[in-house]
Amino acid sequence: MNDVRWWQSGAIYQVYPRSFQDSDGDGIGDLAGIAGRLDHLVTLGVDALWLSPIFPSPMADFGYDVADYCGIDPRFGTLADFDALLAAAHDRGLKLLLDFVPNHSSDRHPWFAASRTSRDDPKRDWYIWRDPAPGGGPPNNWISDFGGSAWEYDAATGQYYYHAFLKEQPDLNWRNPDLRAAMLDAMRFWLDRGVDGFRIDVLWHMIKAAGFPDNPPNPDYRPGMGAMNAVLQLHSTDQPEVHAIAAEMRAIADGYDGDRVLIGEIYLPVPRLMAYYGTDDSPGTHLPFNFQLIDAPWDARALHGAIADYEGALPPGGWPNWVLGNHDRQRIASRVGEAQARVAAMLLLTLRGTPTIYYGDELGLRDGAIPPHCVQDPRELREPGLGLGRDPVRTPMPWDDSANAGFTRGEPWLPLNPDSSARNVARQSDDVGSMLTLYRQLLALRRAHPSLAIGDLTLLDGSGDVLAFERRWQGECVIVALNLGNREQRFDLPLSAGFPRLLLSTLPDAPPNEVADGRTIFLAPDEGQILLAERR
Ligand code: NOJ
Ligand code: MG
Repeated sequence: MNDVRWWQSGAIYQVYPRSFQDSDGDGIGDLAGIAGRLDHLVTLGVDALWLSPIFPSPMADFGYDVADYCGIDPRFGTLADFDALLAAAHDRGLKLLLDFVPNHSSDRHPWFAASRTSRDDPKRDWYIWRDPAPGGGPPNNWISDFGGSAWEYDAATGQYYYHAFLKEQPDLNWRNPDLRAAMLDAMRFWLDRGVDGFRIDVLWHMIKAAGFPDNPPNPDYRPGMGAMNAVLQLHSTDQPEVHAIAAEMRAIADGYDGDRVLIGEIYLPVPRLMAYYGTDDSPGTHLPFNFQLIDAPWDARALHGAIADYEGALPPGGWPNWVLGNHDRQRIASRVGEAQARVAAMLLLTLRGTPTIYYGDELGLRDGAIPPHCVQDPRELREPGLGLGRDPVRTPMPWDDSANAGFTRGEPWLPLNPDSSARNVARQSDDVGSMLTLYRQLLALRRAHPSLAIGDLTLLDGSGDVLAFERRWQGECVIVALNLGNREQRFDLPLSAGFPRLLLSTLPDAPPNEVADGRTIFLAPDEGQILLAERR
């Protein structure tokens, strides 16, 4: 395991800083709060935390609108608080990743303030300005991911600027060498401070087709899908030139000691996603986020196919990664239900590749109910009622059964989930049958068994609702068999399995597994099992 990197064998934990732990009573989570909760991550057994953006921001998109790439928003703390958090994380053997948002800044960034003053301003070209279409109106038909035209008219200079997200998030022009240099310097600023890498926001958006042609209509578009889906983002995203940017970022990260890692946020079909690994000569991100488990139907055959396709498409040397949820997507426990969320946890933590756990999923947290007067997310406010809002997956972390579940002594910025007094870290810590205990057991097994952490993967033939695979490393072989349905399933072990011993079941009170003939196991409804193949 000598040349295995920490980001290959380890597990990553995503913290949404507003919602993790408040320390100063303003109802908003902060860096000092996170620092006070690091022991939760240690006991859980993860290796790194990724913080969603903590930079100064008007918070139009809750930090994904950055007004200064080299500072800390006062709501989250100070640079000194950040250094203290980083040191505390490192003291505990945890790596810390930041969320770099290079595609767009805030419209309050001083660069944009300068850019919009005149067509001749030196920073004009740091953003994307175009004349109106010949007959007037926006330069082309591109649609913001948050609905409406992606172009905003600026009367002062008579041009439109492009924003793939909110109009408060103007896109930066990465074709401009000065902008590019300034942004790469911002990455160096944090790497110099000791961060262990970045998750890179919407990497595939960073370069747009030079001629700004109209995007083609989406033939599959139906009302209710969100306006962004009316066109295919053919010319506004995933342009070939983006790979040179990823390679430049990678070269910077690789220039530092200690295995700094780059994780790209990329929502693309698998074949196109793979390009973001780069090539041997020009490596890209270490881990282009793989959202197959979020997007595939929760069905054994569909997941088998998605895993096979993804594994089969990986470039030589490309290390896989998996994720069940994040701050933009429905929580796994809401999507697949409580019982299957346990199976999902076992899948996430036994597949080959780096898992990323979204905060709260280790408790089986579900989407919160957000009353209309509490809605915060601009996505929901702009296209209400379509189920696109992200507040439900950003509710405060429940720690214990004290007021506000120990999240804040003030008024929480989003309501806590109604079950927080029962579903919280303290309660689940003492409960051998809890989701938290299952996550801890799974992460401990990954540490104890190299075949789970870094071994090869072979999908096994399962029928019905069974999804099964083998993980092997040197002499060790672990078999994972998951029942994705709610009826008992029979599974015939491969002949090579020897006489397997049950290491862990998702059912807390599962009877010891009798593999009488050494060949057949029965999975209870919604049960997953990890077996260690032992020769007799
Ligand atoms: C992707 C982020 O995950 C999402 O939260 C954000 O709104 C957009 N990028 C824009 O930065
Ligand atoms: Mg606070």
